[in-house]
Amino acid sequence: MDDERTAVARTTVDGRDADAGAGLPGGLLVRHPVPEDHGRLQVALADWWGGLGGEAGALQRQLLVPRLFLQHFAGTSFLVERPDHTLHAFLIGFLSQTDSRTAYIHFVGVCPDGKRAGVGGFLYRRFFAAARAAGRTRIRCITSPNNRDSLAYHRRMGFRLEPGDRIDEHGVPVHRDYDGPGLDRVSFVRDLPAGPGDGPGAGAGPGATPPAAAP
Ligand SMILES: CC(C)(COP(=O)(O)OP(=O)(O)OC[C@H]1O[C@@H](n2cnc3c(N)ncnc32)[C@H](O)[C@@H]1OP(=O)(O)O)[C@@H](O)C(=O)NCCC(=O)NCCS
Repeated sequence: MDDERTAVARTTVDGRDADAGAGLPGGLLVRHPVPEDHGRLQVALADWWGGLGGEAGALQRQLLVPRLFLQHFAGTSFLVERPDHTLHAFLIGFLSQTDSRTAYIHFVGVCPDGKRAGVGGFLYRRFFAAARAAGRTRIRCITSPNNRDSLAYHRRMGFRLEPGDRIDEHGVPVHRDYDGPGLDRVSFVRDLPAGPGDGPGAGAGPGATPPAAAP
């Protein structure tokens, strides 16, 4: 945890100072985003979700990450670049203004060739450390019921699925019309203990309490 806190402190909000985060695959660098990153994040939001939702889904994702996140939530957002400064992964998150216990992960994406190499887990742990440093004790996020990778990943990262108003065919609790007509969502929550123990799978490994509604 101390390493993570030190690394958070080293990474400046203007995004100028990238560092090789402990736990990142070799050569990758992490920094906070800047508004100039908006264009390539928009490309990633269209291309990295495997065509989920078709063109409408891509447009929805792009509209969910306007430039304001890079202007006003950069300190709790992270971007991972390759040595040639091309985009490899990102996380957009913020501290709740309404609930002083909570920090919220709005979007995370890892490039298709970079998945299952620990980068998503790295970004979450980095965000957890930033949230903890700000006194937050709970992380929330949502995903689409048809995003099977995201459901599996969040469970593995120790998130619980909150009860919804229906259970889908995979046993997943879904909140119908959560973000508008037809925009169903699954809601995740994860406690953030004060001490160490935020590794991938913390709370979800062998011997841990299983999620409330495993698919
Ligand atoms: C979801 C996503 C961010 C995960 O990132 P990643 O870099 O592949 O994840 P990691 O390699 O760090 O995996 C962390 C843990 O989750 C597990 N995991 C990740 N994806 C998984 C999957 N599809 N199925 C089962 N387990 C998975 C890993 O095995 C790992 O656990 P382990 O350390 O015990 O092996 C990535 O797949 C992605 O960008 N998907 C497209 C965008 C998206 O759906 N974003 C989420 C909704 S906004």
